[in-house]
Amino acid sequence: MKKKLVVLTGAGMSQESGIRTFRDMGGLWEEYDISEVATPEAWERNPELVMQFYNDRRKQLYECSPNAGHLGLAELEQDFDVQIITQNVDDLHERAGSSKVLHLHGELKKVRSTRYPDLIYELDGWELKFGDLCEKGHQLRPHIVWFGEEVPAMEQAVPMVEQADIFVVVGTSLNVYPAAGLMHYTHKDTPVFVVDPERPPVSMKKVQFIEEKAGLGVRLLHERLQNFRNF
Ligand code: APR
Repeated sequence: MKKKLVVLTGAGMSQESGIRTFRDMGGLWEEYDISEVATPEAWERNPELVMQFYNDRRKQLYECSPNAGHLGLAELEQDFDVQIITQNVDDLHERAGSSKVLHLHGELKKVRSTRYPDLIYELDGWELKFGDLCEKGHQLRPHIVWFGEEVPAMEQAVPMVEQADIFVVVGTSLNVYPAAGLMHYTHKDTPVFVVDPERPPVSMKKVQFIEEKAGLGVRLLHERLQNFRNF
């Protein structure tokens, strides 16, 4: 049986694909005010601005490709039962070939009904417009978890982390909860690796750091995992 490898990823995972992170120097939250583009209140006040913000991100996503880090995580499926839990709203893990991807913060290429949250659609192209409606006639919104909203996928994420034989974190500043707390659900004997050029604030003693960008970092991770393979 293959060992269960659970990987939590954040914006740094996609940085080498040309997608901007949020809190690094030059990050998105330097240019935009979170409260104006990424909250339910912002959507109430100025839906056009919110739509434009996500339309821009979506348009850009079509020009990006998975990087060596995404591809390296997909390759690990040869030796491990890999579950990706991502905070990213891009689809680069899927495009790299990862077969099990849980999105904690939604998906950029999807939209959903403002009235019926279970009515979720794959958006055709990059542009969501005011007046685009669900089948029951209500405005569609980005399928994104905004600040102040519930993170329903945590219900699935927690048992995944509890059952992990190995836990890996790639490219997240671990600033945003509840995702940032997931590491604490690992079993006490589960090894934890963190791949990030800047050490995020983690106090757990067992954490092993790989202080590199995702591309090179995941390659080094492959080497560190040699001894954990199970046949
Ligand atoms: N490879 C790996 N890590 C990188 C790279 C890279 N090439 N470049 C930057 N990083 C690291 C940074 O050092 C930082 O620790 O990625 C992390 C990015 O942190 P944030 O910008 O805070 O992104 P993230 O942690 O994913 O943000 C969480 O916040 O705004 C919300 O909903 C949004 O999902 C997002 C959440």
